[in-house]
Amino acid sequence: MDEFLPQKDGYRVAVVGATGAVGQTMLEILAERNFPVSEIIPLASSRSAGSTIEFRKREYTVQDLATFDPKGVDIALFSAGGSTSLEYAPRFAEAGCYVVDNSSAWRMHEDVALVVPEVNPHALELARQNRIIANPNCSTIQMVVALKPLHDLVPIKRVVVSTYQAVSGAGGKAIDELARQTGQLLNGQSAEVKVFPARIAFNVIPQIDVFMDDGYTKEEHKMIDETRKIMEADIAVTATTVRVPVFYGHSESVNVTFESELTAEQARLALADAAGICVVDDPSGEDYPMPSEAAGTDPVWVGRIRNDYSFQNSLHLWIVADNVRKGAALNAVQIAEILISRT
Ligand code: A2P
Repeated sequence: MDEFLPQKDGYRVAVVGATGAVGQTMLEILAERNFPVSEIIPLASSRSAGSTIEFRKREYTVQDLATFDPKGVDIALFSAGGSTSLEYAPRFAEAGCYVVDNSSAWRMHEDVALVVPEVNPHALELARQNRIIANPNCSTIQMVVALKPLHDLVPIKRVVVSTYQAVSGAGGKAIDELARQTGQLLNGQSAEVKVFPARIAFNVIPQIDVFMDDGYTKEEHKMIDETRKIMEADIAVTATTVRVPVFYGHSESVNVTFESELTAEQARLALADAAGICVVDDPSGEDYPMPSEAAGTDPVWVGRIRNDYSFQNSLHLWIVADNVRKGAALNAVQIAEILISRT
């Protein structure tokens, strides 16, 4: 791979949506991973322009995206919603900047790379033309990281996934809603519903994003379409996506059918060896991944690996990851790291 950006001691990096749940984590991860930043540019809407954010123990003033001139910015990490990305990502790209976009706006565009660095880094080549790279949906990212090493051993034919998704996937206001409703219910008050389609505290909602004509939700279509774009178009995928009252960390029950036999032990060994994955799978010690432990960590955690006795060549997996980190901010920063690497 030829380099994407010329080698420099530091890059001008814009974070669009810097006041949001993912934007804040992008800033933290850039600092944690010592990303070479010569100038950090936090951007948001006019609502929070003028407020300050912290980066590497220094305060920076948030600027208004609408009036910001992107000329001279090397990399922009966008996490400010689909309509913002649709409007502004092309403007940044035309100004010569590489955009890593966390929204769903560009993911399925056939000229746009949809990248998980552990799975399909070669897809980044597409970005040389239009400079926009899409970060997949949080639930898709953690699933394909775990499926790829298995698919490399024995091709996958079919995937059936049910998700248990944390509220942070819906942003800062959704985090506040779970906290507020929990307090209200514990204090004998009725829960005020603002963000989700129903009460989320002490409940489970089998709807994420809006419904499509076929009865699936948009989130379910994202998982299906994105998994096939990232891995292989002929893998059959079906999904049920569910919101649960967890703050951070998505969990997934995944049933995988392979073209021929792959034993649970072979799968366990392959996953234990794979980049970005930790296997925690000890039924005798009642040890398995959980969002309470995955939150705040970088790996994709896999456990409950076992044969599906009901169907040939099939395994069950339980996959957990921090949806704001590997599911969003970390994946975006890893893509940015490839953009500045000399390979
Ligand atoms: P703002 O603070 O100005 O509303 P979250 O996903 O946690 O809800 O955060 C959304 C992020 O996207 C926030 O930083 C928010 O900024 C930003 N944002 C939302 N709409 C726009 C917009 N039209 N232009 C720029 N930033 C936006």
